[in-house]
Amino acid sequence: MTREHFYITTPIYYVNAAPHLGTAYTTIAADCVARFQRMSGKDVRFVTGSDEHGQKIADTATKNGTTPIEWCDSQIPAFKDAWEMLDITYSEFVRTSSKAQEKSVQKLWQDLYDRGYLYKGSYEGWYCVHEETYYAESDLEKDEEGNFVCPECKRPVQKASGEENWFFKLSDFQEKLLEYYETHPDFILPVTRKNEIVSFVKSGLKDLSISRSTFDWGVPFTFDEGHVAYVWADALIAYLTGIGFADEARLDEFNNFWPANYHFVGKDITRFHCVIWPAMLMAAGLPIPEHVFGHGFLLTKGEKMSKSKGNALSPKELVNIFGVDAYRYYFMSDVQFGADGSISIERMCQVYNADLANTWGNLVSRVTNMTKKYFDFKVPQPSSDAINNPMAEMTSKTCQTFIDCMDTVDFSGATKAAMELAHRANLYIEESEPWTLAKDESKAQQLADVIYNTLEAIRLIALMLAPFCTRTSVEASRRIGAASPFEVEDLKSSLVWGQLKAGSSVEIGDALFPRLDEDKILAVED
Ligand code: ME8
Ligand code: MG
Repeated sequence: MTREHFYITTPIYYVNAAPHLGTAYTTIAADCVARFQRMSGKDVRFVTGSDEHGQKIADTATKNGTTPIEWCDSQIPAFKDAWEMLDITYSEFVRTSSKAQEKSVQKLWQDLYDRGYLYKGSYEGWYCVHEETYYAESDLEKDEEGNFVCPECKRPVQKASGEENWFFKLSDFQEKLLEYYETHPDFILPVTRKNEIVSFVKSGLKDLSISRSTFDWGVPFTFDEGHVAYVWADALIAYLTGIGFADEARLDEFNNFWPANYHFVGKDITRFHCVIWPAMLMAAGLPIPEHVFGHGFLLTKGEKMSKSKGNALSPKELVNIFGVDAYRYYFMSDVQFGADGSISIERMCQVYNADLANTWGNLVSRVTNMTKKYFDFKVPQPSSDAINNPMAEMTSKTCQTFIDCMDTVDFSGATKAAMELAHRANLYIEESEPWTLAKDESKAQQLADVIYNTLEAIRLIALMLAPFCTRTSVEASRRIGAASPFEVEDLKSSLVWGQLKAGSSVEIGDALFPRLDEDKILAVED
């Protein structure tokens, strides 16, 4: 049987500084989807990478007294290490300085040149190097001295020198794009982002300068070697490179996985992904991705967190305090995917203690200890009587809610479903008082039912939490004698009640999430 294909991407990040909580956020979200889809039996490609060309990186290299390629080479380990630390299971890391990327970029733009979508002209307007974005004067803001600044990052902008560039006829696509948004209402998500894009496109599209001739840190065009591709005319194409575009040997793979199911991006770069990118693809006659999801910003103390503002905590600092699983869980559960979200260490401690330590970790520890005590480390045999299983009905609803949320990338909804089942299981223990049942020989079957049902709840919760808490879910499953969540073949059918085998061995162990002392952690932070 051939498996269904699924393709998801993160942005290709600039290597002007190390990865931070913001870039980690998008990457973790994409990883949760990739893991969920793999658990659901799909053949998954998951591409991330580094955006290395352009003026910003060239300037950064100069500032650091080195060449662009040496600078980029020196930065890549920080990204790969961070993704490894965070358990990111990407299938390919595309560097835009790679040979494969050069071939893709040259192929795509040569094709658009041949099809008559390019012409030579001179650009009049402004440019922000930090955002690598062209702005019309009417888009700009002014600083206190009255100088024009970038509306996004508030840095000074440069006046275009009037150099000759190649232009892409983006304006030809205004109507086609509007029609596309209309007929594909789920292309741009969430809906607030879609409205912004539609009104932007309605206000009129200008042709886009796609080449530079004043510096050479980029991919040279085959039809005019004195010009290198504008950094965005290069970076977007990494999504094609990551599944083998322009590589004869990977033709089948490319055809199987393109168009992508999801591009995950921050709302800062939705325009590039929802306007320029689909227009490029239309011009090339390639299909358009199913969804671009533009999530919100992580804010610390009300401000957008960014590497260049220096208000960014490092992922490593948080992983050292909380562990990888809690890190991933916190960002995915506490920030509604799509909206801006405030993050803080205080809140992270609260979520950790309330959900992971007191609810989920506590459930695992109680139930495995009772299994040891009452059933000598073996999963007891439950009765077949539904009356003895007050959790079955809510469980099937909860598991369905979880699947629906994951299918629509609602991570807070999905984690909430898992937590609801954990709460319910803890309550069920309180209500049925296994410690009292154990004192009465005639209640032995009732006791077996309570223990079986709560162990089975643990199996299901571990499956639901697995995309988020990649390590503790494997450990919890192992302790109750269930298969590893990442070895299930069809998540949906594994999420059906009653599959834990009676008689299998149960283990006890250290707390999955030891309680944290908030005051101690905050004292270290200050
Ligand atoms: O834009 N909150 O790269 P970049 C949430 N190279 N997400 C954040 C964030 C925050 N405070 N800060 C950054 C580029 N991000 C281009 C992309 S793609 C073909 C080229 C995340 O290094 C978010 O995903 O500036 C945002 O879109 C991305 O990092 C920008 O990364
Ligand atoms: Mg940026």
